Amino acid sequence: MIVISTTIAKYVLGGYFMVSKVVAYIAIAVIITAIVVGVAVYYLVPRPAPPAAPPPAKPPAKPAPPAKELIIYHWWTAGGEREAIDAVFKIFKEKIPGVKISENPIAGGAGAVMKPVIWQLLAAGTPPDTFQVHAGGELKEYVDAGYLEPVDDVWSELGLEKVIPGTLQAMCKFGGHYYAVPINVHRSNVLWYNPTVFKKLGIIEKFGDPRTWDLETLLKVCKYIKENAPKVLGKTVYPIAVATRHKWPLTHLFEVLLALHGGPEIYVKFWTGKFKYKDPKDPVWKAVRDVLRAIGIMAKEGYFNPDHPELTWDQAAAKVMKGECAMYIHGDWVAGYYMAVKAKYGEEWSAAPFPKKIFVCLSDCFNLPKKAPHRDIAIEWLRVVGSKEAQEKFNVIKGSIPARVDVKPKYPDPYRPETAEDWVKSTLVPSAVHGGLSKEAFVTAMHDILTYMISSIEMGTDVDKAVDYAVTQIAVAIERTGLVDFWKGYTIDYFITKR
Ligand code: GAL
Repeated sequence: MIVISTTIAKYVLGGYFMVSKVVAYIAIAVIITAIVVGVAVYYLVPRPAPPAAPPPAKPPAKPAPPAKELIIYHWWTAGGEREAIDAVFKIFKEKIPGVKISENPIAGGAGAVMKPVIWQLLAAGTPPDTFQVHAGGELKEYVDAGYLEPVDDVWSELGLEKVIPGTLQAMCKFGGHYYAVPINVHRSNVLWYNPTVFKKLGIIEKFGDPRTWDLETLLKVCKYIKENAPKVLGKTVYPIAVATRHKWPLTHLFEVLLALHGGPEIYVKFWTGKFKYKDPKDPVWKAVRDVLRAIGIMAKEGYFNPDHPELTWDQAAAKVMKGECAMYIHGDWVAGYYMAVKAKYGEEWSAAPFPKKIFVCLSDCFNLPKKAPHRDIAIEWLRVVGSKEAQEKFNVIKGSIPARVDVKPKYPDPYRPETAEDWVKSTLVPSAVHGGLSKEAFVTAMHDILTYMISSIEMGTDVDKAVDYAVTQIAVAIERTGLVDFWKGYTIDYFITKR
């Protein structure tokens, strides 16, 4: 082969170069040889067969029939609330066997973290089968947006109108239809306290029953605890527990103090924006300023536990139980938490409605989104939620009372019988922080305004300056969030059950 190639090379180059240019001949000969050998190998050596062509595509399979599944969202992850919802799941599984419960518990308390997730799912057209919602304004927002189906049939099938009080019926009904089934009633205005700390410091002897305290007395009690705990108990006890990791427990404190100090009308006017908010002389502003100032003093004087930015609502409750803080102004899911962690009533915790004469109420419900993937199963779930059995089991654990007045559980704690009695005797107003009364965007703005206010005071800002700034911000938030239009056509009286 090389000889033939060399001859060809000589022939090709012969006219231009001398035969003596042996090196060039050899190089060209090597190239020609390589080409010839390559061509021969390509054609003569057997090669693997090309891969077989893919089989023709099958026609797409028919969509599987919907599984027996309940896709549910809730935010009950803390002690007490977790166990309470588990009790309802158990009843549901017994009643409707074979259903897979796809649970999506989103921690954060009060739905602060869950609600934005739900709005996204609904906006994307991928709703769950049901989700936790508060009766009142929060429910109305989903109804206004057209995301929910009425559940009138469940109400009439279970005869709920006969057993659920009118105030709560109104909070579930919009445009003549019911849109949710309530499972409970919680009280937002409760003062939880450590009875051992209280006894040792003689708080009740000195200041009277907390059920009757006013805002000024509360501040005096705080001062007294701060000054005397080190002498009497040999340690610092922070007078008021608060948790600002998810911000809302601070707004909760504000809500209760406004009901305490302003009374039901001012409270409702503020949270619905039904006052002259552009006029600084409006009496609502006077009450709001007093409350902001009181909270400002608590921040300035070190009445709050300094670790509040890291804590969730239940961790703040734990501080009272351990005697690190003396009091906590919070809702009665705290009773559920104390029972779950087996805290000793009368030693580690006690509670007083605050104030006794007003009941700031809220109710947890479940609903039926349009296009729920397992609609029939969601309806079964609502039947269970509204049933006597579920309301009894759930509420005993949860710290709340049943939405149905025909369910009268035996409570393991001395706190609840008083709540059940007050529910039918006290003046009722809905909680704003827990979805009853205001508009979500405004409540969220309040979380930010209040958290900013106390952290700036804790860093040295003058209380009055911080309060002035907060008031300006609140007025802007009322305007910006469209609060005033949210309850158009509703009167103040609609929100107050006077007794
Ligand atoms: C409330 C809810 C209660 C309780 C609390 C803390 O908004 O209504 O049931 O769970 O949040 O998570």
